[in-house]
Amino acid sequence: FAPKLLAGHSLLLTAGPTREAIDPVRYISNHSSGKMGFAIAKAAADMGAQVTLIAGPVNLATPLGVKRVDVISTQDMLEAVMSRVDTHDIFIGCAAVADYRVADIATDKIKKSSNDMQLALIRNPDILATVASHNPRPFTLGFAAETQDVERYARDKLVRKKLDMIAANDVSNPELGFNADNNALKVIWAKGQKDLPPTDKQTLASQLLGILAERIAILKDD
Ligand code: PMT
Repeated sequence: FAPKLLAGHSLLLTAGPTREAIDPVRYISNHSSGKMGFAIAKAAADMGAQVTLIAGPVNLATPLGVKRVDVISTQDMLEAVMSRVDTHDIFIGCAAVADYRVADIATDKIKKSSNDMQLALIRNPDILATVASHNPRPFTLGFAAETQDVERYARDKLVRKKLDMIAANDVSNPELGFNADNNALKVIWAKGQKDLPPTDKQTLASQLLGILAERIAILKDD
């Protein structure tokens, strides 16, 4: 039995990829399977939290005791998160959110016409930064998936997006991170950090939430 370290807390979290339509049959997306986010949702429910999981298109079963809301695009995910943020005291952004969407989604399937074509993209809103600047804000944990200078980029995101904590994910190794069963994280907050070495995503999720629960308890006592 997991210790009920998150009893009395409510967690809103995102998992999986988002998909941005190009036309009725094509889309832009990424390799996120949702496994890391779903493992966090299960671990949090086991630790006594009320959990709402906003899931992009993934092929995973909903963990027991978790409330799940399915979304497709980044805009859908943003709306699903912001309409629930006020009723949760912890937010974790584990989804691999598409940074850009197609400027004009074609109504009909795009036909081949020439050897090359251009697709105009526009920047998507940042869900994590929107949550972190919301008032009142939940305790906000973001992820940073990087292939180089992992710690530097993660620290930059921690400060720029005004997060309480960030889990840096080196995704340069295909055996860890995206769509793998194992992962490793460097968890960073303003005055500390902790390395979580490679292990299965369910074990890693419990370790990550152990650190988060400790930080929340410390902040409460400050
Ligand atoms: O799903 P799996 O196959 O198990 O893989 C897990 C994972 C590698 C996807 C996961 O561990 C992970 O690292 N998730 C974050 C992926 C990502 O998009 O990172 P990023 O560095 O591009 O984004 C930084 C943070 O901002 C993330 O918390 C992301 O959710 C958030 N973000 C990014 C863009 C955007 N428009 N809105 C956001 O909220």
